[in-house]
Amino acid sequence: MKLKDRVAVITGAGSGIGRASALEFAKEGARVVVADINRNGAVETVKRIEQAGGQAHAVTTDVADAASVQNLVRETLRVWPQVHVLFNNAAIQINKTVEETEVEEWNREIAVNLGGIFLCCKFFMPHLRKTKGAIVNMSSVNGFFVEPICAGYCATKAAIIGLTKAMAIDHGKEGIRVNCICPGYIDAGLAEGYFEAQPDPAAARAAAGKLHALGRIGRPEEVG
Ligand SMILES: NC(=O)c1ccc[n+]([C@@H]2O[C@H](COP(=O)([O-])OP(=O)(O)OC[C@H]3O[C@@H](n4cnc5c(N)ncnc54)[C@H](O)[C@@H]3O)[C@@H](O)[C@H]2O)c1
Repeated sequence: MKLKDRVAVITGAGSGIGRASALEFAKEGARVVVADINRNGAVETVKRIEQAGGQAHAVTTDVADAASVQNLVRETLRVWPQVHVLFNNAAIQINKTVEETEVEEWNREIAVNLGGIFLCCKFFMPHLRKTKGAIVNMSSVNGFFVEPICAGYCATKAAIIGLTKAMAIDHGKEGIRVNCICPGYIDAGLAEGYFEAQPDPAAARAAAGKLHALGRIGRPEEVG
Protein backbone atom coordinates (compact mmCIF):
# COMPACT_ATOMS: atom_id res chain seq x y z
CA MET A 1 0.00 0.00 0.00
CA LYS A 2 1.58 3.25 -1.18
CA LEU A 3 -0.26 5.58 1.22
CA LYS A 4 -0.65 3.48 4.36
CA ASP A 5 -1.54 5.70 7.34
CA ARG A 6 -1.09 8.88 5.32
CA VAL A 7 -3.78 11.54 5.64
CA ALA A 8 -4.89 12.97 2.31
CA VAL A 9 -7.20 15.95 1.86
CA ILE A 10 -9.00 15.99 -1.50
CA THR A 11 -11.11 18.98 -2.50
CA GLY A 12 -14.07 18.48 -4.81
CA ALA A 13 -14.14 14.83 -3.75
CA GLY A 14 -17.94 14.73 -3.67
CA SER A 15 -18.13 13.62 -7.30
CA GLY A 16 -16.25 12.86 -10.51
CA ILE A 17 -12.47 12.69 -10.53
CA GLY A 18 -12.21 13.80 -6.89
CA ARG A 19 -14.45 10.96 -5.70
CA ALA A 20 -12.68 8.38 -7.85
CA SER A 21 -9.34 9.63 -6.55
CA ALA A 22 -10.56 9.47 -2.95
CA LEU A 23 -11.50 5.81 -3.51
CA GLU A 24 -8.09 5.07 -5.09
CA PHE A 25 -6.23 6.84 -2.26
CA ALA A 26 -8.22 4.86 0.33
CA LYS A 27 -7.44 1.60 -1.49
CA GLU A 28 -3.77 2.49 -1.06
CA GLY A 29 -4.28 2.86 2.69
CA ALA A 30 -4.79 6.62 3.01
CA ARG A 31 -7.22 8.17 5.47
CA VAL A 32 -9.09 10.59 3.25
CA VAL A 33 -10.64 13.95 4.11
CA VAL A 34 -13.40 14.45 1.54
CA ALA A 35 -13.89 18.21 1.15
CA ASP A 36 -16.70 19.48 -1.05
CA ILE A 37 -19.21 22.31 -1.19
CA ASN A 38 -21.81 19.61 -1.87
CA ARG A 39 -22.38 17.95 1.52
CA ASN A 40 -24.45 15.05 0.12
CA GLY A 41 -21.81 14.22 -2.45
CA ALA A 42 -19.07 14.26 0.17
CA VAL A 43 -21.05 12.02 2.52
CA GLU A 44 -21.72 9.57 -0.34
CA THR A 45 -17.98 9.38 -1.11
CA VAL A 46 -17.23 8.64 2.55
CA LYS A 47 -19.91 5.93 2.54
CA ARG A 48 -18.36 4.25 -0.51
CA ILE A 49 -14.87 4.36 1.03
CA GLU A 50 -16.11 2.89 4.30
CA GLN A 51 -18.04 0.16 2.47
CA ALA A 52 -14.78 -0.79 0.78
CA GLY A 53 -13.06 -1.03 4.19
CA GLY A 54 -11.32 2.37 4.15
CA GLN A 55 -11.36 5.41 6.41
CA ALA A 56 -12.70 8.82 5.40
CA HIS A 57 -14.24 11.96 6.84
CA ALA A 58 -16.49 14.50 5.07
CA VAL A 59 -16.03 18.23 5.57
CA THR A 60 -18.38 20.66 3.85
CA THR A 61 -16.04 23.26 2.36
CA ASP A 62 -16.15 26.18 -0.02
CA VAL A 63 -12.55 26.41 -1.23
CA ALA A 64 -13.16 30.02 -2.34
CA ASP A 65 -13.84 31.10 1.23
CA ALA A 66 -10.88 31.63 3.58
CA ALA A 67 -12.86 30.92 6.76
CA SER A 68 -14.25 27.71 5.26
CA VAL A 69 -10.76 26.52 4.29
CA GLN A 70 -9.44 27.34 7.77
CA ASN A 71 -12.29 25.24 9.15
CA LEU A 72 -11.22 22.40 6.81
CA VAL A 73 -7.70 22.55 8.28
CA ARG A 74 -9.07 22.51 11.84
CA GLU A 75 -11.44 19.61 11.10
CA THR A 76 -8.69 17.59 9.42
CA LEU A 77 -6.39 17.96 12.43
CA ARG A 78 -9.23 17.32 14.87
CA VAL A 79 -9.92 13.95 13.29
CA TRP A 80 -6.36 12.92 12.44
CA PRO A 81 -3.13 14.29 13.96
CA GLN A 82 -1.22 15.02 10.76
CA VAL A 83 -1.74 15.75 7.09
CA HIS A 84 0.52 14.40 4.33
CA VAL A 85 -1.21 15.06 1.00
CA LEU A 86 -3.30 17.94 -0.35
CA PHE A 87 -5.02 17.27 -3.67
CA ASN A 88 -6.51 20.56 -4.91
CA ASN A 89 -9.10 19.18 -7.33
CA ALA A 90 -12.24 21.32 -6.89
CA ALA A 91 -13.22 23.50 -9.84
CA ILE A 92 -16.13 24.89 -11.79
CA GLN A 93 -16.35 25.55 -15.53
CA ILE A 94 -18.30 28.39 -17.13
CA ASN A 95 -18.91 27.39 -20.76
CA LYS A 96 -18.96 30.88 -22.29
CA THR A 97 -16.80 33.33 -24.21
CA VAL A 98 -15.37 36.32 -22.33
CA GLU A 99 -18.08 38.56 -23.77
CA GLU A 100 -20.89 36.24 -22.63
CA THR A 101 -19.42 35.67 -19.16
CA GLU A 102 -21.06 37.70 -16.39
CA VAL A 103 -18.67 39.57 -14.12
CA GLU A 104 -19.92 37.50 -11.14
CA GLU A 105 -19.29 34.25 -13.06
CA TRP A 106 -15.75 35.34 -13.92
CA ASN A 107 -15.00 36.31 -10.31
CA ARG A 108 -16.41 33.05 -8.96
CA GLU A 109 -14.51 30.89 -11.47
CA ILE A 110 -11.22 32.60 -10.59
CA ALA A 111 -12.02 32.42 -6.86
CA VAL A 112 -12.83 28.69 -6.90
CA ASN A 113 -10.34 27.32 -9.44
CA LEU A 114 -7.30 29.46 -8.67
CA GLY A 115 -8.16 31.16 -5.38
CA GLY A 116 -9.18 27.82 -3.87
CA ILE A 117 -5.75 26.38 -4.53
CA PHE A 118 -4.11 29.49 -3.06
CA LEU A 119 -6.22 29.29 0.12
CA CYS A 120 -5.81 25.54 0.65
CA CYS A 121 -2.04 25.73 0.08
CA LYS A 122 -1.69 28.79 2.30
CA PHE A 123 -3.52 27.30 5.27
CA PHE A 124 -2.29 23.69 4.97
CA MET A 125 1.36 24.63 4.32
CA PRO A 126 2.48 24.84 7.97
CA HIS A 127 1.11 21.33 8.53
CA LEU A 128 2.50 19.86 5.30
CA ARG A 129 5.90 21.27 6.25
CA LYS A 130 5.87 19.11 9.39
CA THR A 131 5.32 15.89 7.41
CA LYS A 132 7.31 16.89 4.30
CA GLY A 133 4.05 16.35 2.49
CA ALA A 134 2.96 16.65 -1.11
CA ILE A 135 0.60 18.94 -2.98
CA VAL A 136 -1.09 17.93 -6.22
CA ASN A 137 -2.89 20.68 -8.10
CA MET A 138 -5.48 19.80 -10.72
CA SER A 139 -4.89 21.70 -13.94
CA SER A 140 -6.04 20.37 -17.33
CA VAL A 141 -4.91 19.93 -20.88
CA ASN A 142 -6.77 23.25 -21.22
CA GLY A 143 -3.87 24.83 -19.32
CA PHE A 144 -1.77 24.64 -22.50
CA PHE A 145 -4.18 23.77 -25.33
CA VAL A 146 -7.51 25.57 -25.38
CA GLU A 147 -11.03 24.97 -26.60
CA PRO A 148 -13.86 27.24 -27.68
CA ILE A 149 -16.32 28.77 -25.21
CA CYS A 150 -14.56 28.22 -21.90
CA ALA A 151 -12.18 31.18 -21.79
CA GLY A 152 -12.19 31.78 -18.04
CA TYR A 153 -11.73 28.08 -17.32
CA CYS A 154 -8.72 27.86 -19.67
CA ALA A 155 -7.23 30.96 -18.03
CA THR A 156 -7.50 29.43 -14.55
CA LYS A 157 -5.98 26.13 -15.67
CA ALA A 158 -3.00 27.90 -17.29
CA ALA A 159 -2.52 29.97 -14.14
CA ILE A 160 -2.50 26.80 -12.02
CA ILE A 161 0.51 25.53 -13.99
CA GLY A 162 2.37 28.78 -13.25
CA LEU A 163 1.36 28.75 -9.60
CA THR A 164 2.48 25.13 -9.25
CA LYS A 165 5.93 25.86 -10.69
CA ALA A 166 6.35 28.90 -8.42
CA MET A 167 5.30 26.93 -5.34
CA ALA A 168 7.51 24.00 -6.28
CA ILE A 169 10.64 26.16 -6.16
CA ASP A 170 9.54 28.01 -3.01
CA HIS A 171 8.71 24.89 -1.03
CA GLY A 172 10.77 22.11 -2.62
CA LYS A 173 13.72 23.14 -0.48
CA GLU A 174 11.55 22.46 2.58
CA GLY A 175 10.85 18.94 1.36
CA ILE A 176 7.33 19.71 0.15
CA ARG A 177 6.74 18.47 -3.40
CA VAL A 178 4.30 20.49 -5.50
CA ASN A 179 3.09 19.06 -8.80
CA CYS A 180 0.14 19.51 -11.06
CA ILE A 181 -1.63 17.09 -13.36
CA CYS A 182 -3.18 17.99 -16.70
CA PRO A 183 -5.66 15.33 -17.80
CA GLY A 184 -7.34 15.33 -21.18
CA TYR A 185 -11.08 14.66 -21.38
CA ILE A 186 -12.28 12.54 -18.48
CA ASP A 187 -15.74 11.04 -18.20
CA ALA A 188 -16.83 13.22 -15.25
CA GLY A 189 -18.87 16.30 -14.37
CA LEU A 190 -17.04 19.17 -16.04
CA ALA A 191 -16.50 17.39 -19.37
CA GLU A 192 -20.16 16.33 -19.34
CA GLY A 193 -21.19 19.97 -18.81
CA TYR A 194 -18.93 21.04 -21.67
CA PHE A 195 -20.40 18.47 -24.07
CA GLU A 196 -23.93 19.49 -23.06
CA ALA A 197 -23.10 23.14 -23.87
CA GLN A 198 -22.25 22.21 -27.50
CA PRO A 199 -24.86 22.32 -30.29
CA ASP A 200 -24.55 18.52 -30.72
CA PRO A 201 -23.41 16.96 -27.41
CA ALA A 202 -23.12 13.39 -28.76
CA ALA A 203 -20.98 14.50 -31.70
CA ALA A 204 -18.80 16.63 -29.39
CA ARG A 205 -18.27 13.65 -27.10
CA ALA A 206 -17.36 11.33 -29.98
CA ALA A 207 -14.96 13.91 -31.45
CA ALA A 208 -13.29 14.35 -28.05
CA GLY A 209 -12.51 10.64 -27.85
CA LYS A 210 -10.64 10.79 -31.14
CA LEU A 211 -8.28 13.46 -29.76
CA HIS A 212 -6.74 10.96 -27.34
CA ALA A 213 -4.04 8.37 -27.94
CA LEU A 214 -6.31 5.64 -26.53
CA GLY A 215 -9.11 6.63 -28.93
CA ARG A 216 -11.49 7.30 -26.04
CA ILE A 217 -11.90 9.77 -23.21
CA GLY A 218 -10.39 8.82 -19.86
CA ARG A 219 -12.04 7.36 -16.78
CA PRO A 220 -12.00 9.21 -13.41
CA GLU A 221 -10.25 6.32 -11.63
CA GLU A 222 -7.42 6.47 -14.19
CA VAL A 223 -6.66 9.98 -12.95
CA GLY A 224 -6.81 8.75 -9.34
N1 LIG B 1 -13.67 16.04 -16.57
C1 LIG B 1 -12.64 16.37 -17.34
O1 LIG B 1 -12.60 16.09 -18.56
C2 LIG B 1 -11.45 17.08 -16.74
C3 LIG B 1 -10.28 17.14 -17.50
C4 LIG B 1 -9.16 17.79 -16.96
C5 LIG B 1 -9.22 18.32 -15.71
N2 LIG B 1 -10.37 18.25 -15.00
C6 LIG B 1 -10.38 18.83 -13.66
O2 LIG B 1 -10.69 17.84 -12.70
C7 LIG B 1 -11.33 18.43 -11.58
C8 LIG B 1 -12.63 17.69 -11.27
O3 LIG B 1 -13.49 17.80 -12.40
P1 LIG B 1 -14.70 16.79 -12.65
O4 LIG B 1 -14.87 16.68 -14.09
O5 LIG B 1 -14.55 15.58 -11.79
O6 LIG B 1 -15.92 17.71 -12.14
P2 LIG B 1 -17.12 17.47 -11.10
O7 LIG B 1 -18.05 18.61 -11.32
O8 LIG B 1 -17.64 16.08 -11.19
O9 LIG B 1 -16.38 17.63 -9.70
C9 LIG B 1 -16.04 18.89 -9.17
C10 LIG B 1 -16.35 18.87 -7.68
O10 LIG B 1 -15.92 20.12 -7.13
C11 LIG B 1 -16.92 20.54 -6.20
N3 LIG B 1 -16.84 21.99 -6.02
C12 LIG B 1 -17.25 22.96 -6.89
N4 LIG B 1 -17.04 24.18 -6.34
C13 LIG B 1 -16.49 23.97 -5.12
C14 LIG B 1 -16.08 24.83 -4.08
N5 LIG B 1 -16.19 26.17 -4.18
N6 LIG B 1 -15.55 24.28 -2.96
C15 LIG B 1 -15.45 22.93 -2.84
N7 LIG B 1 -15.85 22.06 -3.77
C16 LIG B 1 -16.37 22.57 -4.91
C17 LIG B 1 -18.23 20.11 -6.83
O11 LIG B 1 -19.28 20.07 -5.87
C18 LIG B 1 -17.86 18.75 -7.38
O12 LIG B 1 -18.08 17.73 -6.44
C19 LIG B 1 -11.50 19.90 -11.93
O13 LIG B 1 -10.42 20.65 -11.39
C20 LIG B 1 -11.41 19.91 -13.44
O14 LIG B 1 -10.98 21.15 -13.93
C21 LIG B 1 -11.48 17.63 -15.48
